[in-house]
Amino acid sequence: MRAVTTPTHNPMAWLDEALEALDINHQRRTLITRPSAGGTLDVDGKRLLNFASNDYLDFLNRPELKEAAIAATTRYGAGSGASRLVSGTLTLHEELEAAAAAHKGYPCALLFGSGYMTNIGAITALVGRDDVVLADRLIHASLIDAIRLSGAGMIRFHHNDAEDLKRRLADLKPSGKKLIVTESVFSMDGDLAPLPEIARVAGEYEAMALVDEAHATGVWGPEGRGLIAEHRLQPDIPIAMSTFSKALGGYGGVIAGSAALRDWLINKARSFIYTTAPPPASCAAALAALRLLESEPALGGTLLERAAFFRNALHALGFTTGASCSQIIPVIIGDNAATMKLAEALRQRGILVGAIRPPTVPVGTSRLRFSITLAHRQEDLAFAADQLARSAAEIGWSP
Ligand SMILES: Cc1ncc(COP(=O)(O)O)c(C=O)c1O
Repeated sequence: MRAVTTPTHNPMAWLDEALEALDINHQRRTLITRPSAGGTLDVDGKRLLNFASNDYLDFLNRPELKEAAIAATTRYGAGSGASRLVSGTLTLHEELEAAAAAHKGYPCALLFGSGYMTNIGAITALVGRDDVVLADRLIHASLIDAIRLSGAGMIRFHHNDAEDLKRRLADLKPSGKKLIVTESVFSMDGDLAPLPEIARVAGEYEAMALVDEAHATGVWGPEGRGLIAEHRLQPDIPIAMSTFSKALGGYGGVIAGSAALRDWLINKARSFIYTTAPPPASCAAALAALRLLESEPALGGTLLERAAFFRNALHALGFTTGASCSQIIPVIIGDNAATMKLAEALRQRGILVGAIRPPTVPVGTSRLRFSITLAHRQEDLAFAADQLARSAAEIGWSP
């Protein structure tokens, strides 16, 4: 029998050093566990106002979503049992796809497990090594990962600058496909893409355009249909990506577009093909959320009014919020350590806010990301602004 020996070299030992390096740069991330949903949460016995959630419309706890999820679980089971192309396609998936397509104003839609998987699947199915993607400088990591994985060349254009995009397209040699990728509401800056200009440039240079509406859906446009719908740009933007995981309070992602696009993705999007179909509960909750948007069309407008109130309160206290004009309000601090200190001081004062640092945002632009939701009352917003001013004074940081 072979003797058991204690290894002298631990091949995982590098982890400790690498984690320590993250600590030194104030870049180590940790998890926050919450026992329930809502605008407040209890963490370590302390009640916190939650400004770190993407549940913009406070849908997480809506009985309509929960009841739909329970009913779907009762009817279809806890899971889908197989991938979509094998035997996992449920009538519910198709119902949700039809509803999502109609909501976005496109002929068809295809559902994916998550928003991340949607971007990965769609972009890798649409472009490859001979092609070029023109990407806004500030797009989300899921889009960057997708472009890298596709093998296509990546050219970054200045943030929200359609003229720069145009210059870069004009410089391209006329070979291969061209795909423009941007977000409609930027996740870390809360500003809006100039979609009509981008669509015009795409048309001029015969480029495909994919717009990620993760943070626009549910909030912007009529009945929360998003910014593409608000500008009626469906004919010019052939690939509309969206998620059910932010304002819609659930889980899952979707691409809306033509029937041919849906068919192509069914055949080529690997994150659609090689994974189990989304579970009935999340699909039913998403469907219920879309119906709520139609029956309560004023929700997005109310949220944006509250966000404007908070932004004004911050401005009155001397803080700057970049180009934000949405429910996402960054207070740019710059330095990682000061950002962490401020977030901690706010936490001590009962406010939970995202401390966003590189690599999520460019170096030197670390920020507190306040995300406003319908769970926040006006007095909560006034309180949070005041506590931010007090926290800044406490740590000796001036805006
Ligand atoms: C712009 C954007 N796209 C895609 C995603 C991924 O969506 P999901 O959380 O549903 O995977 C996110 C989420 O963080 C996002 O902010």
